[in-house]
Amino acid sequence: MNSFWSMWVMFLVLLNAGITAFLFWWAPRVRIPVQEDGTTGHVWAHGVLREGMHRLPRWWIIASAAMYLFGIGYLLLYPGFGAHKGLLGWSAHGEHDLATAVNDANLAETMARFKGLPPAQLAADPEALRIGERLFVDNCAACHERSARGNPLLGAPNLVDADWTWGGDDASIATSILDGRQGVMPPLGEAIGAAKVADVANYVLSLSGAPHDAAKAAAGAPEFAVCAACHGQQGEGNPLLGAPKLADSIWTWGGGLEAIEKRINEGTHGVMPAWKSRLDENDVRVIIAWLRSQAPNHLARL
Ligand code: HEC
Ligand code: HEC
Repeated sequence: MNSFWSMWVMFLVLLNAGITAFLFWWAPRVRIPVQEDGTTGHVWAHGVLREGMHRLPRWWIIASAAMYLFGIGYLLLYPGFGAHKGLLGWSAHGEHDLATAVNDANLAETMARFKGLPPAQLAADPEALRIGERLFVDNCAACHERSARGNPLLGAPNLVDADWTWGGDDASIATSILDGRQGVMPPLGEAIGAAKVADVANYVLSLSGAPHDAAKAAAGAPEFAVCAACHGQQGEGNPLLGAPKLADSIWTWGGGLEAIEKRINEGTHGVMPAWKSRLDENDVRVIIAWLRSQAPNHLARL
């Protein structure tokens, strides 16, 4: 609060406090002119109503005075009187910092217990799973969905299936999270010719046994050589390039003929941000433990 507004607020508070103090002093003393019939003599509504007047009851004055003193005491001890910080030094920021510090200390103690433990072991610890889930919801769910099953609109893969674009061992997953990943597939529609796009797309569908046009797939097979450079001869994928498997029926960007034709024509560029600045290795192992625990048959995969 700049000094003008601070002074203005102080002025208003003092003015009000002064007027109120004056009323406390004056009200019990003031003489009220009362007629013999107990009214002020003031007549309303053509004589139907006559105005009476009573002193304030004592309990009311005492209660008001107590609140008045409480208000002054409050403004002395806590912030509220212009820029005066209050004698107790209390502030909402201070309160928040204190709560955060207590929280951080508790969390650090718990996290220290997890240090160096592999995700497979952490996955058996309910507290690790609880923290892993919280970290995932706070940092990852926006793209990978709350369920970790991915979002084809963003090209964010399902993280609880057995399919990993960049490698599914603990170390590769940790690298994906800490350093981020960017898979780039260039648009190839022009390179292979518009007429051939549907053929290649049908061939891609045939790799996973998805419904396709066999004649077109056969015609598209030779063109797949362009794709094989990154996706592998049998569409087995290449974790070094982040080129996904095309021979399973798991699709990051959505399956079906149309989606695959769109990939070929437009390419893709998925961006997984790096989390190094916000999460450390310990956090990441705890997240991986939670992801593992969410996958069906996860014990078989650990
Ligand atoms: C801004 C969106 C976004 C956020 C937030 C995000 N991711 Fe990702 N993530 C992606 C995208 C997109 C990819 C795919 C990158 C690619 O292959 O091009 C990806 C890929 C991954 C992969 C590699 C998957 C594989 O199949 O190899 C892992 C693991 C992963 N993310 C985990 C996480 C975790 C854990 C968090 C939270 C700490 C997180 N992500 C937060 C968008 C995001
Ligand atoms: C230069 C390497 C490269 C070439 C060549 C390439 N791709 Fe890709 N492709 C990728 C990468 C990398 C991704 C993942 C991109 C991302 O994560 O955003 C991808 C993704 C895809 C996807 C999406 C997979 C999913 O799970 O949703 C399809 C489908 C695909 N490519 C088909 C093809 C076809 C068909 C061809 C040949 C016409 C081809 N690609 C050629 C690198 C390549």
